[in-house]
Amino acid sequence: MKILVINGPNLNMLGIREPGIYGSETYASLVKLISEYCDSKGIEVDFFQSNHEGAIVDRIQEAYGVFDGIVINPAAYTHTSVAILDALKAVSIPAVEVHISAVNEREDFRQISYAGKACVKTYMGLGFNGYIEAVKFLENYLAEKQ
Ligand code: DQA
Repeated sequence: MKILVINGPNLNMLGIREPGIYGSETYASLVKLISEYCDSKGIEVDFFQSNHEGAIVDRIQEAYGVFDGIVINPAAYTHTSVAILDALKAVSIPAVEVHISAVNEREDFRQISYAGKACVKTYMGLGFNGYIEAVKFLENYLAEKQ
């Protein structure tokens, strides 16, 4: 099983940006956490972070035929990007949406998720643990699909 973890804009600033909302742990520690979980389960995992919408679209397209599942936190592009939604639909790789914060309890403009419309599951408000829950969900989902 091969999983791609995609993080959108400003998530490279974890640990610095709004620690009251996103915590004090860094992007590097997020990568370490997910890598350690995947290693313990024999899951191959790759990571991609970009502040650019088109780069995220490119990475999703390149995942076609390569990855079994995608974990994606599109960050602010969640609420604006039809292009990322369309890319996820185009490759039709099972994808799980993750948000570190409880976006459902935040501003009105965060209440729409375009990418979420192409995802089989969403986790929000669980901090970094949401990514682990997403990988676990994909493990079960992909095992059942076989
Ligand atoms: C986020 C929530 C988004 O609304 C925000 O723009 C982000 C991070 C989260 O992980 O909670 O950058 O996706």
